[in-house]
Amino acid sequence: MPVEPAEIDGSKILITGPTGQVALPVVEHLATIADVYALARFRKAEERAQIEALGATVLQADLADRDSLSVVPEGLDYVLNFAVVKSGDFDYDLAANAEGVGNLMVRCADVKAFVHFSSTAVYEYVGHEPRRENAPLGDNHRAMFPTYSISKIAAETVCRFVAHHHRIPTTIARLSVPYGDNGGWMYYHFLMMQQGIAIDLHPDKPNYYNPLHVDDYIEKIPYLLGAATIGATTTNFGGSQRVSIEEWCSYIGKLTGLEPTFQDNPKAFGSLCIDVETMHALVGETSVDWRDGIRRQLQALAPELVQ
Ligand SMILES: NC(=O)c1ccc[n+]([C@@H]2O[C@H](COP(=O)([O-])OP(=O)(O)OC[C@H]3O[C@@H](n4cnc5c(N)ncnc54)[C@H](OP(=O)(O)O)[C@@H]3O)[C@@H](O)[C@H]2O)c1
Repeated sequence: MPVEPAEIDGSKILITGPTGQVALPVVEHLATIADVYALARFRKAEERAQIEALGATVLQADLADRDSLSVVPEGLDYVLNFAVVKSGDFDYDLAANAEGVGNLMVRCADVKAFVHFSSTAVYEYVGHEPRRENAPLGDNHRAMFPTYSISKIAAETVCRFVAHHHRIPTTIARLSVPYGDNGGWMYYHFLMMQQGIAIDLHPDKPNYYNPLHVDDYIEKIPYLLGAATIGATTTNFGGSQRVSIEEWCSYIGKLTGLEPTFQDNPKAFGSLCIDVETMHALVGETSVDWRDGIRRQLQALAPELVQ
């Protein structure tokens, strides 16, 4: 039995990183049922307009700059922290991603629940072993995003510290390959297939992940909020199905007639599938079959190519 979901309708929710791939559909959905505040640096005017058009209140701030967070209103019920930066500058990325979650939690210490979205990129590479939440951590994504894994690990630590210190009910959800009609990792693979670019694969095949469809993560958010504890609940957060890059590329090939080409690269991210036991106990199983999710994505983003 999953936990009791939080009551979201009519609540006052702060969402950080609202213009990002993962959070944008969440803003779109929650703005129809709740009072949504959307926080980002908003360097592009059109992104600000896009969020306002969805009915959310824009808050312009930088998580790395605690004074800028004075724009955050009082009386919030919930916070969903999706913001992330991968500039490659360790000082800034640690300040925004790790100190940033601390700055935000201190500012919103009275909320009923705080969800910090982390990543399975915090786990050390260990081959095909599904990672439990207590598996060894490591600098998994260094080859492509030098600051990412380290700043996500640091962010989790700051988040736990502030949750304990300020007694803020908190959940840390480690996302695995979130995707939907606005993109996701497999869409980049599709683009590479379209352009005849070889896709790097770790030689220890198959390369397993647990893609999580947007319909599922939107449905699970109230449960993640309901699972929050002042000890900071930590859970993997991916699809219940394990799928390899090889399988999803081959399925994209079947849908589009494009042929994937692969090349071995020992520096490519290796298999990173998750143990789903804790996640299932807290939020239940996911329901979107990965093939349906990918077909829908391509129908939305490249309809002319779906056969
Ligand atoms: N996408 C994936 O495949 C994936 C996989 C695993 C985990 N995740 C996690 O999911 C979350 C969302 O990822 P995403 O891919 O959607 O990110 P994204 O597309 O890169 O978007 C990042 C968002 O954060 C905001 N942001 C960046 N720096 C900020 C700062 N200093 N202060 C305030 N806001 C800031 C950005 O807006 P501005 O630039 O306007 O500030 C933007 O809205 C992250 O926590 C990420 O670690 C993602």
